[in-house]
Amino acid sequence: ATKQIPKEKGLDQTLTLLNEGYQYISNRRRHQQSDIIQTRLLGQKTILISGEEAAQLFYDERYFKRKGVAPRRIKKSLFGEHGVQGLDDAEHKHRKLMFLSLMTPERLEEIKKITMEQWKKKIPEWKRKDGVVLFDEAEDVMCRSACAWAGIPLRKEEVAQRAREFGDMIDAFGGVGERNRRGKRARDSAEQWIQTIVKQIRAKKLNPPENTAAYIMSFHRDHKGKRLDTHTAAVEIINVLRPIVAIGRYVVFGALALHDHPETLPGLHAGDDTYTTMFVQETRRYYPFTPLLGAIARKDFHWKGYPFKKGTLVMLDVHGINHRPDLWDAPDAFKPERFKDWKGSPFAFVPQGGGDHYMGHRCAGEWITVMLMQTSLEFLTNHITYTVPDQDLSYSMVRMPTIPKSRFVIRDVEEKM
Ligand code: HEM
Repeated sequence: ATKQIPKEKGLDQTLTLLNEGYQYISNRRRHQQSDIIQTRLLGQKTILISGEEAAQLFYDERYFKRKGVAPRRIKKSLFGEHGVQGLDDAEHKHRKLMFLSLMTPERLEEIKKITMEQWKKKIPEWKRKDGVVLFDEAEDVMCRSACAWAGIPLRKEEVAQRAREFGDMIDAFGGVGERNRRGKRARDSAEQWIQTIVKQIRAKKLNPPENTAAYIMSFHRDHKGKRLDTHTAAVEIINVLRPIVAIGRYVVFGALALHDHPETLPGLHAGDDTYTTMFVQETRRYYPFTPLLGAIARKDFHWKGYPFKKGTLVMLDVHGINHRPDLWDAPDAFKPERFKDWKGSPFAFVPQGGGDHYMGHRCAGEWITVMLMQTSLEFLTNHITYTVPDQDLSYSMVRMPTIPKSRFVIRDVEEKM
């Protein structure tokens, strides 16, 4: 029998979403006592779903597609147009393989080494400074590392500008007004910059190594054998650079976790890979980054008795799933040990999407993210000492994306001998 999806009252809940941020879907779940809820967002009927089985459904491509999901304001700032996020089926699989081809063990080792060197180069400057804003420094380090690894030339004088542009694209996600406009300006500027580089590479005036994103994307052919247009190639190169800069946010949350849970320090000091990995996984589970993801129903179907209509927008409760008591013991406690021998499902731990990297839309950069967080924590715990002065380390659960208000200031930096 067909069941009725519990429905939120009111004309449109876009403002409620913006007012409740990361807690929007969990609040609706509590309100309706249901893991499936019908609402209206941006003037459109939207179904919210949560839970492990819901994530399994969301990543089943027989039922859902991605083309047409991202609103224009998101494409103009965060994602760019015609990028991998909005592709489906054969075209998506082919484009996704291009990204995954960058993630060989040798290339992952390389970015790890590059990033550690970039962190170490910061030490002399930090020692002279009165206070260091870790968030700004992390974005700077990640921007330098991303460009070096991807084969994109970056002049010393432009690092600050480019790091800020990538940061502004990320920051635009839940922003309206000026924050969104800043993200658009950043994207326009970065796309122009990278398009010029793609043209130079194609003209052989610039010759990055063949295993870099700059080279691979400049010469990539789509599933029909056609070269990407310059703009799309630039969008996809930015789809590698920008999210590496985004890792800076997780580095700050890692530093915050370390500060709030000093009992984790011995484990990190030991340089024990297993403990550091558990710590990094728990940081990605615990702290808010991606609030939700959207997809569109490909056809009419029923799930658990509930009707889905072709064309309906469906949103998955990403942040909420990482905090569900049916999937996580004491979900609101920070406990790296929970990841010891963790055998959970790829639909229960979804900070960077769920399911399979090759077959679905799950993040292509999950391995880089984990590795660079490990590297950065290794740097912060084993290569320097610092103090954390009094500051407002609280972070909003409404602003998306969020970061500690003080952006994590450290002081008295010394090199560890
Ligand atoms: C997709 C999060 C780092 C490349 C995604 C998705 C999320 C995500 C939530 C969407 C999954 C979906 O649509 O189902 C993050 C976070 C990161 C991060 C929070 C770190 C802070 C990276 C890095 C790279 C990367 C370092 C590349 C070097 C991609 C690509 C996609 C993607 C190419 C599109 C995949 C597709 O549509 O098939 N990421 N990501 N991400 N990410 Fe990441």
